[in-house]
Amino acid sequence: MSTPDPHSFSDPTQGVITHIRFRLRPDFTARVLRVQAHVRLDRPVTGSLFLDTRHLQIAQIRHADSDLAWSYDREDPILGQRLHLSGLDGVQEFSVESTSSQTAAALQWLEPDQTAGGRHPFLYSQCQSCSARTLFPCQDTPSVRFTYEAEIETPPPLTSVMAAEGLGVSLQGGRVVHRFAMPQPIPSYLFAFAVGNLVFEAVGPRTGIYAEPETIQAAAWEFAENEDRLRAAEALFGPYLWDRYDVLIMPPAFPYGGMENPRLTFLNGAYVQGDRGGTWLVAHELAHAWTGNLVTNATWEDFWLNEGATTYAETRISEIVEGVAASDLRTAGRAQTLLRDFDRLGPQSPMTRLRLPLAGKDPDESYSNIPYFKGLLLFRQLERAAGRERFDGFLKAYIEAFRFRSITSEAFLEFLEDRLPGVGQVVDVRRWIYEPGLPEGAADVTSSLFDDVLSVEEAYRRGELPSAQRVAGWTTTQQGVFLGRLLPAVPASDCAYFDRLFRLQETKDGALLSRFYELAVRSANREAIPRFEQFFSSVGRYQFHEPVFRALVQEPWSRELARPILERWRHRHHPHTVAAIERILVEAGV
Ligand code: BES
Ligand code: ZN
Repeated sequence: MSTPDPHSFSDPTQGVITHIRFRLRPDFTARVLRVQAHVRLDRPVTGSLFLDTRHLQIAQIRHADSDLAWSYDREDPILGQRLHLSGLDGVQEFSVESTSSQTAAALQWLEPDQTAGGRHPFLYSQCQSCSARTLFPCQDTPSVRFTYEAEIETPPPLTSVMAAEGLGVSLQGGRVVHRFAMPQPIPSYLFAFAVGNLVFEAVGPRTGIYAEPETIQAAAWEFAENEDRLRAAEALFGPYLWDRYDVLIMPPAFPYGGMENPRLTFLNGAYVQGDRGGTWLVAHELAHAWTGNLVTNATWEDFWLNEGATTYAETRISEIVEGVAASDLRTAGRAQTLLRDFDRLGPQSPMTRLRLPLAGKDPDESYSNIPYFKGLLLFRQLERAAGRERFDGFLKAYIEAFRFRSITSEAFLEFLEDRLPGVGQVVDVRRWIYEPGLPEGAADVTSSLFDDVLSVEEAYRRGELPSAQRVAGWTTTQQGVFLGRLLPAVPASDCAYFDRLFRLQETKDGALLSRFYELAVRSANREAIPRFEQFFSSVGRYQFHEPVFRALVQEPWSRELARPILERWRHRHHPHTVAAIERILVEAGV
């Protein structure tokens, strides 16, 4: 089962990697990862085998007792270097020794002062979308899955964790060696590990938290409901097939909110807010255990199958754990954000299709809300057309039918037509997937909490500033949706009033702060800039910063501020975050 993947040099018809035995040795001084990988294929391969690599230094490739011939015979700025093993004569196993480059895209090496404890360095990997190839040669396409075993060698007192089953730890010649196994087959982008000063605390029988000692208590409180989320998800989507569901609290420099690494979600420490206000993020990453990790997009052009299905699944878990009202409000807010994104991209932009045309493009550079929120709205339409009960049956059957497999948008459509005949026509599903824009009315979401926001907005438009009493019961989501409704701008003094009204100086809610700083820049509320810079210096999630930088470069008064802010904090951010903001500045000519 293979599909041509525009983001991989590999050719699965030659043979497929099924298992890898790793030995990983991070070198914190040289900032490189030394990797020994023993690779097993699904069949003896004769002739050539193509693998993906990027800036890897290969010491040797051996089969039994002899060296194998290899060369880098193709190169592409996005794909990296094609590793070509040639002259194979029925080779089914081989071992590779390689060293990552100091700028390997999959790794971030953090200084002690970027951690909660401030005393130890921290290292982690982030392979989605195409960065596993910067760690070891592989078929770096989500359409190929393999199992693995691994050992990680670290200097004490650092410990390591993996998105895998922990098998124990031993001391070997003064080094700490942790052993892991991943018995469920995963695509390369879900390979993940981290090294730091980490401790563990259980929050339920199958759920727990890994974090630095300084944050473990706060994190265990914030995510105390994870076992409930797991049970809710199982009732909706079928048995959880990954055994444990733990969360690793990442230093805030992590460039995402969360990453669904199997068994061990990586979660940005900025979401330990002290109010459980960002815990829906766990519902999202947990939902990926079914939509994404079990049923995987075959290529990044089908990314909506991962993220749209997961955003929908997330809302279903949230309905159970947080309640329907909170979940519907978030959906209504996302629909608003989606409409603003369509305005920005243009309704005819190919980037507003669900199936994305990504050949020749870096999937990470094309990342947007569209696969998430347009995908969410499509799944809601399908649910409405089929009826909730039938649609739930469909989802379970879909997961069961494709578990541990990778599928294309076309395969999804076929399965939909087979199991829910006619539903696809009712919602015009092909138009959703293959055409830009959004069908009329699709962004209308009923939510009483959202309606309350609209009524305060209407009063404000008539000249009435809301009183503290009027908005006293509002959640931070309502506050954020309200500020979003005020875009592009309000008078600077009103913006400052909302700042005080919602006590934004005290909140740790990053999504809310990001929305406020965007509005503040658009509204020339200048006092907000030093606070935005403080926020930018301490939180890495680039989705928080993109809208603010876009505003900074577009408003004449703030245009010249953007570049110095980036330059002052560039060294603290992940290359993805720097690159995302750099693109905005360069496009604007600053
Ligand atoms: N898998 C994504 C993160 C990702 C996407 C990493 C593309 C690299 C490339 C993860 O599940 C995700 O969607 N994270 C979101 C959180 C979410 C709740 C919207 C994020 O980090 O913003
Ligand atoms: Zn996701």
